[in-house]
Amino acid sequence: MKRETFSTSLAVFFATLGSAVGLGNIWKFPYMTGMNGGGAFILVYLLFVLLLGIPIMLAEFYLGRKTRSNVVGVFDKLKAGRFWKIIGYLGLLSAMLIMFFYSTVAGWVYSYVFKAVRGDFRALGTMGTDEARMASEAIFGETLTGVSPMLWQAFAVLLVAVILIGGVKKGIERVTKTPMPVLLLLIIISAVRALTLPGAGEGLSFLMKADFSKLTTSSILAAMGLAFFKLSLGMGTMVTYGSYFNADNNLVGTSFKVAFSDVAVSLLAGLAVFPVVFTFNLAPEGGPGLLFNTIPLVFSMLPLGNLLLTAFFVLTAIAATTAMLSMVEVPIAILTEELRMNRRKAVILTTSLMFLVGVLTTHPDALFGHVEVAGRSLFDFFDYVSSNIFLPLGGLFITIFVGYFVRKDSLVREMTNDGQVGRASVIQLFHGILRYVTPILLIIVFLNALGILSF
Ligand code: PHE
Repeated sequence: MKRETFSTSLAVFFATLGSAVGLGNIWKFPYMTGMNGGGAFILVYLLFVLLLGIPIMLAEFYLGRKTRSNVVGVFDKLKAGRFWKIIGYLGLLSAMLIMFFYSTVAGWVYSYVFKAVRGDFRALGTMGTDEARMASEAIFGETLTGVSPMLWQAFAVLLVAVILIGGVKKGIERVTKTPMPVLLLLIIISAVRALTLPGAGEGLSFLMKADFSKLTTSSILAAMGLAFFKLSLGMGTMVTYGSYFNADNNLVGTSFKVAFSDVAVSLLAGLAVFPVVFTFNLAPEGGPGLLFNTIPLVFSMLPLGNLLLTAFFVLTAIAATTAMLSMVEVPIAILTEELRMNRRKAVILTTSLMFLVGVLTTHPDALFGHVEVAGRSLFDFFDYVSSNIFLPLGGLFITIFVGYFVRKDSLVREMTNDGQVGRASVIQLFHGILRYVTPILLIIVFLNALGILSF
């Protein structure tokens, strides 16, 4: 069977951006910034995007497009030993772990769409500060209980399955094509409104003042994990998408455009959330509920607020869905190509498993830590292990592989499209970074997290 590709470079950009931009920007970035003390965390995060994110994204694009293969098959095509294929399967495992909790949060987003349409948030605009905050928190609390979050999660996963059965062009490309600019516009509107709130000054200084004394070992690890999670790296998503890129795509250009746009969306989400936090006396370190508690408050203070709020959550749902497509495509590509499974069967098998385990994290006991694994709630455990351990570990091996086991001239040829775009010297610089900067930085952060090295 002929392998599919995306039709144009624009389609590639939107699909890849669709993978990167998701709940990570809108939900995770603000609450993690809140939990880790603000500005200093953001700075370290940005540094990791630059020194780890972009180089590893390029390495993944190289592997994918050069071999036109899934993340396990890549290592066969490049005649690497058995060991390396384990890295591919590690990616499959990471996809599972992430989907377990990601689909839960996607379910919350869908239920917020429903609530907004029903008008549940309308009353917020008529209340005083404290009353509105409590009402908003109560709505979120209610979202987590009963069977409805499980049904919403089922809906989120089912939608992903239906789209993925359509394949690369008729599935992924079709849904990733347009929504991003509209989402951007809505985030800008909410950020602008938020910045005119009384708590805007405090919110801004929380985001921009880098107080390095707040930076702990665990927040450095978290910033690194977030950089991987955000750009969908370390588990083969970008290998898999790269394998569908058109031959004349400029890989370096794509990686920079995607990384910068992604950071911009996260920062805008931060600008929309933190002024609200300080205006309504919410706790910045409030955790995973932060987005859901704050955003309805911003929109309640805008003309046409309910309509805009609905649109905001619809677009967040789309962003979450396009990110999930890329996550689930990793196992699908492995199953269909390595095990020659039919695509429909692979999709049904993978998404069913994701739902069946994932639904366990949706139960309040698993969310709030009445059920614990290694001292964490089940939800947190899946999140922590995937972002902070599996993705960076996958990234480390990918860097080492491309830095040390791939011939430099092959890298230069693939990245410049045989001399058509870019400059060989830039690729050589990037090769040097992959050999000496990226792996060493990753190892230092790991050793620091393990307490073996302290700084
Ligand atoms: N990058 C996505 C987000 O930030 C999450 C993701 C992680 C997607 C890993 C694919 C693979 O929401």
